[in-house]
Amino acid sequence: MNPVLKHLVLSGRRVVAACVRHHSSLTTELIENMDKKATWDRFYAESSSRTPTFKNFEWFFGFEAVQDFIMPLLQTKSHPDAPLQVLDMGCGTSALGPCIYRHSPLPVQVTCADISPVAVRLMQEHVRAKAIQPHNISSKLKFVELDCTQLHEHYGSRSVDLVVDKGTTDALLRSKEGKGKAGLVLKQCLKVLRSSGALLQFSDEDPDARLLWLETEAQEPGVMADVGVQEVGELRGVCYYCYQVTPRLIVH
Ligand SMILES: C[S@@+](CC[C@H](N)C(=O)[O-])C[C@H]1O[C@@H](n2cnc3c(N)ncnc32)[C@H](O)[C@@H]1O
Repeated sequence: MNPVLKHLVLSGRRVVAACVRHHSSLTTELIENMDKKATWDRFYAESSSRTPTFKNFEWFFGFEAVQDFIMPLLQTKSHPDAPLQVLDMGCGTSALGPCIYRHSPLPVQVTCADISPVAVRLMQEHVRAKAIQPHNISSKLKFVELDCTQLHEHYGSRSVDLVVDKGTTDALLRSKEGKGKAGLVLKQCLKVLRSSGALLQFSDEDPDARLLWLETEAQEPGVMADVGVQEVGELRGVCYYCYQVTPRLIVH
């Protein structure tokens, strides 16, 4: 076995290994540089060149595994005249954002954002060709190239209802130079989320490590938050978690 993969298996990161098993030439670059745009551009370009027809690439699992965590948070309008603002942060070519758009009974504006223009273009072409219909005719879906450490350039403060993050913070935290970016992304999320909003991180990281990291990063003045965790379940011998981060109401 490739020594990098072996190390990942031994350190309990079997999912990363499984996800990159079919991309052996990319393995080392991907694992050490999952915070870099160039790595992901190459990953998505190589993945798409391998298949003649587009196929969504899902990190960990797809919408079905996590819909019960997501959809209950989209039951109440935060503003009577506006759609709920949903962000899939680091969407890649996952179908998560399109599925939320398709299934939400309330009107949603789903923004799927990724640092990789290759992933964004593939998804734009895919949804155009597929012409996905939303449950609510007022719902909207868009894909944008965006570095999520700069979320404030795209969103006003307190303007987003739900941020979903499937594997993006994990990717940053596991990269050689990504830990600081993961902290920045979390702080940006807390700035753009409404006080009624939430950030969901889907991850295979153990709660002992992730809760400590979240609690430490989210305790600075101006970015206070409450943090919780639920088990998503076990898949291929790996336990997955849903970490929920909610802005804390500060009473003056
Ligand atoms: C582990 S993949 C997960 C992709 C997708 N969420 C899924 O479930 O398949 C991490 C994604 O985060 C994106 N990414 C990494 N750094 C980013 C950043 N600073 N801003 C936005 N996206 C980023 C990568 O391009 C990649 O698509």
